Amino acid sequence: MQVYVGSDHAGFPLKTIIVSWLKDQEGIQLEDVGTHSTESCDYPTIAHDLAARIVDCGDGALGVLVCGTGLGISMAANRHPGIRAAVCTDSFSARMARAHNNANVLCLGQRVVGSGLALEILNTFLSGTFEGGRHGRRVELIEPV
Ligand code: RB5
Repeated sequence: MQVYVGSDHAGFPLKTIIVSWLKDQEGIQLEDVGTHSTESCDYPTIAHDLAARIVDCGDGALGVLVCGTGLGISMAANRHPGIRAAVCTDSFSARMARAHNNANVLCLGQRVVGSGLALEILNTFLSGTFEGGRHGRRVELIEPV
């Protein structure tokens, strides 16, 4: 599974923990798109870079984006057709984001969730599956015509 990870400066510490955890998981091809320090940067730039890579890659690639709240970075990522970025602060939402919304990007807030909860949410997100059926039609309707 191809997984892209990115954050702004506010999410950098949590991204570091996530990257380290992902490296220990089997079957994950990981790409860290930055940022690479706590020096101030703009979350939309990272979100657009990661979103474009997922769209280009296709083939079930997933992304993880971290900023202070998860909000700004999700808003930017969701401007890309084909990207369904979900801000999750609990595991149930992470499971449903995959099962019903076929989310392909998980957004986390470094200032909202602790690292233990963040990794549990991420694990749930990565192991989730899309249920399809009626949800497939609804997900298709998300894209503006
Ligand atoms: C940066 O201070 C903060 O605004 C950003 O990380 C994010 O939370 C925006 O939504």
